[in-house]
Amino acid sequence: MAFAVSITMFFVLLLLLPLSATAQPYRNVTLGSSITANNKNSTWLSPSEEFAFGFQQIIRGGYLLAIWFNKIPERTIVWSANRDNLVQEGSKVQPYADGRFELSDPRGGFKWTAAATSRDGVAYGAMLDSGNFVLANSSSGALWQSFDEPTDTLLPTQTLNQDGKLVSSFSKTNFSKGRFLFTLQIDGNLVSYTRNFPNDDAKFAFWSTQTVGSGSKVIFNQSGDIFLATKMEVSSILCLQARRRPRPVNFTREQYWNMMGF
Ligand SMILES: *[C@@H]1O[C@H](CO)[C@@H](O)[C@H](O)[C@H]1NC(C)=O
Ligand SMILES: *[C@@H]1O[C@H](CO)[C@@H](O)[C@H](O)[C@H]1NC(C)=O
Ligand SMILES: *[C@@H]1O[C@H](CO)[C@@H](O)[C@H](O)[C@H]1NC(C)=O
Ligand SMILES: *[C@@H]1O[C@H](CO)[C@@H](O)[C@H](O)[C@H]1NC(C)=O
Ligand SMILES: *[C@@H]1O[C@H](CO)[C@@H](O)[C@H](O)[C@H]1NC(C)=O
Ligand SMILES: *[C@@H]1O[C@H](CO)[C@@H](O)[C@H](O)[C@H]1NC(C)=O
Repeated sequence: MAFAVSITMFFVLLLLLPLSATAQPYRNVTLGSSITANNKNSTWLSPSEEFAFGFQQIIRGGYLLAIWFNKIPERTIVWSANRDNLVQEGSKVQPYADGRFELSDPRGGFKWTAAATSRDGVAYGAMLDSGNFVLANSSSGALWQSFDEPTDTLLPTQTLNQDGKLVSSFSKTNFSKGRFLFTLQIDGNLVSYTRNFPNDDAKFAFWSTQTVGSGSKVIFNQSGDIFLATKMEVSSILCLQARRRPRPVNFTREQYWNMMGF
């Protein structure tokens, strides 16, 4: 069973989705290949086809470069590159041989670049069955990964490091940054804030783990348990307990929202 946790307007939610049973080799994205924002649905799929990387048209002529659950009718977006700057039709994303991974708009508009820790030795890109898109070297070491730049969602096996942030979407159909921020601060405290929308700064902290000096990372493990790892020990955050069900069912974010009574 797979899960995802996501910060929406107010709360951290979980999605339970069908499990991709077998681990298969990557379908590598070769350097120099590209996908273009248009209505042809071109994507890079994970081996199980559970996750897709590509463009979704959000408004007429406005595209979001995103990763989404590909096997449920509502293709729930779990990551995006340009949430505040939709790109136009004809925009392209491409991993280059020199290690750059770029989104460019044909009319010279917004451009997004993945900040690879090292540009040396990028061999291929791959959409993994975990929902992580990686740029890897020849020994499959990740040089850049979407898991390191979360938007509003955490997936199983993903961790949120110090200074990591989840910012809720503005609404269910508008993926721009919205009104809530969930962050593991550099000081080790895990805090939920309202945002000084539309400015980028935090306004009011309404929840925290009070772990200044000790919180080191938020771990979402394969079984759906979420922990705040501290320097001393791994402690459970009670308010982020996973909701487990015996049988995997397809849930949209909205259905979950309703089910949990929000
Ligand atoms: C793209 O995918 C959607 C949804 O699956 C489908 O309705 C549409 O016909 C596809 N478009 C093309 C050009 O294949
Ligand atoms: C889940 O979604 C898949 C793909 O859309 C579909 O084939 C399957 O029947 C769905 N399962 C349930 C339990 O609704
Ligand atoms: C992907 O690339 C790596 C490194 O070059 C290689 O070891 C692996 O076999 C490739 N996988 C596929 C499915 O092409
Ligand atoms: C590939 O990357 C990993 C982790 O980033 C690193 O440990 C490894 O040395 C690299 N391998 C090569 C051949 O560059
Ligand atoms: C999303 O909402 C923001 C804030 O109201 C707004 O500035 C932006 O234009 C909206 N984007 C879309 C695609 O509607
Ligand atoms: C996730 O954490 C829980 C609680 O510590 C543990 O029981 C479970 O075995 C862990 N799952 C994995 C896959 O490590």
